[in-house]
Amino acid sequence: MTVTTQERPAPAATAAHGAARESARALLQLENLCKVFTTDEVETHALSGVHLEIRKGEYVAISGPSGCGKSTLLSILGLLDTPSSGRYLLDGVPVENLSFPERARIRNRQIGFVFQSFNLIGDLTVFENVELPLTYRGIGASERRRMVGEALERVSMAHRARHLPAQLSGGQQQRVAVARALAGDPLILLADEPTGNLDSTNGEAVMDLLHELHGMGSTICMVTHDPRFARHAERTVHLFDGRVVDERRER
Ligand SMILES: Nc1ncnc2c1ncn2[C@@H]1O[C@H](COP(=O)(O)OP(=O)(O)O)[C@@H](O)[C@H]1O
Ligand SMILES: [Mg+2]
Repeated sequence: MTVTTQERPAPAATAAHGAARESARALLQLENLCKVFTTDEVETHALSGVHLEIRKGEYVAISGPSGCGKSTLLSILGLLDTPSSGRYLLDGVPVENLSFPERARIRNRQIGFVFQSFNLIGDLTVFENVELPLTYRGIGASERRRMVGEALERVSMAHRARHLPAQLSGGQQQRVAVARALAGDPLILLADEPTGNLDSTNGEAVMDLLHELHGMGSTICMVTHDPRFARHAERTVHLFDGRVVDERRER
């Protein structure tokens, strides 16, 4: 009796192959991504055919001049916006067909977002701000307390847990925003000009924090128009007019 290829048992080394495939697979993968905004019959091609892969544990900076599409790209990566065409695979899953609640769920669990303007809620304490996304996730109170405590420790803000955002410096507020993004242990941290509203000392401190988090294993994609900050990342992707024009490894 002949045995066809399909009937043969799988090769024994599947575990090793599986591990190799796992490390080779991109955590985030964009293929020929385009985004067109249409307003008053004016079409803006914010992204035109972007290819990008980010692997687990990488720290990637996206840089380029104002208006080149950086925030649009990050919003799509963070499932805050949808592309006009092209593919986006997040952890191997195509996101284009996800329902609205599925997108919200993935955003809450797998994406940590840090904005230029901190976006903390003014009448909640530091602790409550970091806790809020975990509450939406249905995590119990004692587990939430543990996760918030850990996240605040990681950004050295545990001693300000009962303060309101307005009682903190800009740099401290951004550290709290980083703690909020990290508390739920997301797949990736996305940061859009995280130092844009900070003076240079506080800006450097936030950069050092991201560097440290990367050292502890976080995957980070940061947008910046400032080449000095882009150097903190392992790899820089330069955008111009919605296209990737250059990609380089910093080290
Ligand atoms: N919601 C929107 N509606 C229309 N045009 C937009 C919108 N968001 C961004 N754009 C345009 O898309 C281009 C890229 O914007 P953006 O991604 O914010 O650039 P960057 O973050 O690099 O400064 C710009 O020309 C901008 O005016
Ligand atoms: Mg922007």
